[in-house]
Amino acid sequence: MSLLTGDGIHSGYGDMEVLHDVSFRIEEKEIISIIGPNGAGKSTLLKTIFGLLKPTKGSVTFKGNSITGLAPDRIVRLGMAYVPQVENVFPSLTVHENLEMGAFILTDDFSARLEDVYELFPFLKKRRRQRVGKMSGGERQMVAMGRALMLDPELLMLDEPSAALAPKLAEMIFERITAINETGVSILIVEQNAKESLKLADRGYVLASGQNRFEDTGENLLANEEIGQLYLGG
Ligand SMILES: Nc1ncnc2c1ncn2[C@@H]1O[C@H](COP(=O)(O)OP(=O)(O)OP(=O)(O)O)[C@@H](O)[C@H]1O
Ligand SMILES: [Mg+2]
Repeated sequence: MSLLTGDGIHSGYGDMEVLHDVSFRIEEKEIISIIGPNGAGKSTLLKTIFGLLKPTKGSVTFKGNSITGLAPDRIVRLGMAYVPQVENVFPSLTVHENLEMGAFILTDDFSARLEDVYELFPFLKKRRRQRVGKMSGGERQMVAMGRALMLDPELLMLDEPSAALAPKLAEMIFERITAINETGVSILIVEQNAKESLKLADRGYVLASGQNRFEDTGENLLANEEIGQLYLGG
């Protein structure tokens, strides 16, 4: 049984259908990368998986249960976390308060989990009293990922975690993603930075105009000439 499967998903905004029959699967412990041009529907797919949009057709299955049309707060409780492309932190709160917000549905003591997250991101521990609104893009991205990890998810979905970051910072974020995966968390990542994300992915999907175009191992997608020319900048 796959950890997450999407089967024949149609979804969009009002009358505008963006995803036309999109299917995918994620096995436990995998890193999956979804690449594709601007407007391909990558963010729309993540929003549909996470219950922010309702598919008009098709289904989403997580750990063997249908989550199609389920609300995000229910999906979170099943072990899925999502870091949106934009507005993924509370700028007026400190780092520590942002992480606390991530744990808001936990009723028990989350101090042990907080230490796990600080271990993955020692920088956040050092800056825990700082307001996030004053931090750089890369630092905010760490806060957003740390917040999502507070609930100890089985699956972490990241929408363009390296967007607008200098190459060195992007590299650091990708390295942290690998470290998170090594703690046993499966990862679904959507990236503009297609080459870098395919390098760390077990498998990848190319989405274009709201449809599946290619599906293969990260390695094979990187080596594919047609994909290189069309989607990886030659
Ligand atoms: N909130 C919205 N309301 C209406 N249309 C939207 C909305 N968000 C996105 N769209 C449209 O849906 C299509 C797919 O957008 P989406 O954000 O999923 O693309 P993407 O692949 O994530 O692109 P990018 O790489 O630029 O982030 C685009 O045509 C976009 O204009
Ligand atoms: Mg997007």
